[in-house]
Amino acid sequence: MFEQVAVIGAGTMGLDIAQCFASAGRNVIVRDVSEAIVSAAKARLTGALERSVAKGRLAPGERDKLLENISFTTELADCAGAQLAVEAIVERAEVKKLLFAELSKLLAPGAVLASNTSSISITEIASAATNPQRVVGMHFFNPATVMKLVEVIRGAFTSDETFALVKAEAEAIGKTPVEVNEAPGFVVNRLLIPMLNEAVGIWAEGVASAADIDAAMKLGCNHPMGPLALADLVGLDVVLSIMETLHRETGDGKYRPHPKLRQLVRAGTLGRKTGKGVFDYR
Ligand SMILES: NC(=O)c1ccc[n+]([C@@H]2O[C@H](COP(=O)([O-])OP(=O)(O)OC[C@H]3O[C@@H](n4cnc5c(N)ncnc54)[C@H](O)[C@@H]3O)[C@@H](O)[C@H]2O)c1
Repeated sequence: MFEQVAVIGAGTMGLDIAQCFASAGRNVIVRDVSEAIVSAAKARLTGALERSVAKGRLAPGERDKLLENISFTTELADCAGAQLAVEAIVERAEVKKLLFAELSKLLAPGAVLASNTSSISITEIASAATNPQRVVGMHFFNPATVMKLVEVIRGAFTSDETFALVKAEAEAIGKTPVEVNEAPGFVVNRLLIPMLNEAVGIWAEGVASAADIDAAMKLGCNHPMGPLALADLVGLDVVLSIMETLHRETGDGKYRPHPKLRQLVRAGTLGRKTGKGVFDYR
């Protein structure tokens, strides 16, 4: 069990991941790059907790405990005491590598360094660290406070001890870990994203309407959400970027991004976040 946890990045995932650890009693420090981002993150956290209290989902006492357990900083040096650091920063290999190089020098040699990356190789990230055997993937799902799954990913350097510690920690904070040996897309995205890409193809080729494709998968496969609505929610640019990673890393034509997906992204129709994707939200 880890008592002191650092979460690097206070964006969509970082803030939720911080809450997961804090609600299990961990002392969490969240680091982002500027005061403005940190203040906005604090306001988002307080707002989200207030709404949960108002809806009766969270007791006021629990809210206070959560807020007590989470602190914020812009200084990486403030994370030096962490036994576990979970990185949730921008999805760019060179930026993550820089951070892991710094973290591996700053934290105690026995500390565990985990990445929440969706698609970057854990081995590549670990290659920048002074202690790559302490680097592991800890992949949460959005929204991390709700979704039970954590993919625990073993890179080429990850030691058995590091892997076991992170798996146990995922369980200790109420998640269900699955063991994954590093491969592009891990498990969930390798299955999910090609399905979303295929749904775009079925729609683009006029096989069925967007609404009917979604209805078919909801009613025929019991999916809670249709693949096209889900692609719009994830962001068509994110879907494209993961397809490109699968295609590039494997060289396998079955991962070819559908040309319609590329066209939608080029047109700036990225899904819910831009008001229009496959469906129109305006
Ligand atoms: N959004 C999702 O649904 C999702 C799901 C699973 C995994 N992920 C992964 O989680 C990571 C974060 O994604 P997100 O959606 O939260 O992104 P985001 O853009 O919402 O947040 C990223 C945050 O990291 C900060 N940041 C950038 N460089 C930093 C640095 N050097 N130190 C500290 N903070 C830094 C940014 O200022 C920003 O606040 C990515 O690797 C992404 O692939 C995302």
